[in-house]
Amino acid sequence: MHIFHKIEELKNHFSTVSKEETVGMVPTMGALHSGHISLVKKALNENNYVIVSIFVNPTQFNNAEDLEKYPQTLQEDITLLKEASDKIIVFAPSASEIYNSNIKSDSYNFGGLEKVMEGEFRDGHFDGVGTIVEKLLNIGKPDNAYFGEKDYQQLQIIKKLVDIKKIPVNIIGCPIVREESGLAMSSRNARLSAELRNEAAFIYKTLKEAKIKFGTKSALEVSKWVTAQFDKNKLLDLEYFTITNADNLQTIKRKSKNKKYRAFIAVYANDIRLIDNIALN
Ligand code: PAF
Repeated sequence: MHIFHKIEELKNHFSTVSKEETVGMVPTMGALHSGHISLVKKALNENNYVIVSIFVNPTQFNNAEDLEKYPQTLQEDITLLKEASDKIIVFAPSASEIYNSNIKSDSYNFGGLEKVMEGEFRDGHFDGVGTIVEKLLNIGKPDNAYFGEKDYQQLQIIKKLVDIKKIPVNIIGCPIVREESGLAMSSRNARLSAELRNEAAFIYKTLKEAKIKFGTKSALEVSKWVTAQFDKNKLLDLEYFTITNADNLQTIKRKSKNKKYRAFIAVYANDIRLIDNIALN
């Protein structure tokens, strides 16, 4: 397995790749779990080379404490990746390698996708994501890049980013991987106590019930029902629940035929923020 910390080392490694060979990239912030490994396996199946980047990107955190507490487990991540395949190329740069001394985001206009949900509650988050993903795609120059649908809004924004910036890469969204309880896999789950991890299964359970209700009830009625469920829950605090058009991510007022809808949720378990989403039709 190759592990590179410098941009030049990674670029040199690929200087001899022929035009017929494809490169897949899986950008991550480390603390890898089975959700990441499913992206890596898909990338390995579909490409000659796979780069997994591991970089906790400071510019996408709107909260210094959240950044400080974000799990960093490089050695364990490498062991997990080696088990998946010895062929993987790990790119684990430092913040100064990526940003020099200027740890700042660029600002983007993603046509409104960046203003709702995560964008509303995490100021500047998507400028940070756009900045790092643009940098990583320009460094790794992959043919295909893989992102999980747990961060569905991020996935839509990255598709928009490569469109706006004309980056020649296919952005491939991959299904959410869940723990046995239904809780969406996330690096943040490692910070949950056993009690909270157990309780957090309530999030997906509620989403599944909301999906059933959406078959016969309005978006507003379903949203009120979800809010009432969380009002009764002593361990989880609802930050938002919303039903949107699956393409433009704008909250809907009423349903119309032939449109795709999705429900999104963000919940706090103590200071740990968990997000999830579900396709409604
Ligand atoms: O989804 C993540 O882990 C991060 O937002 C990403 C895409 C690796 C950018 O830092």
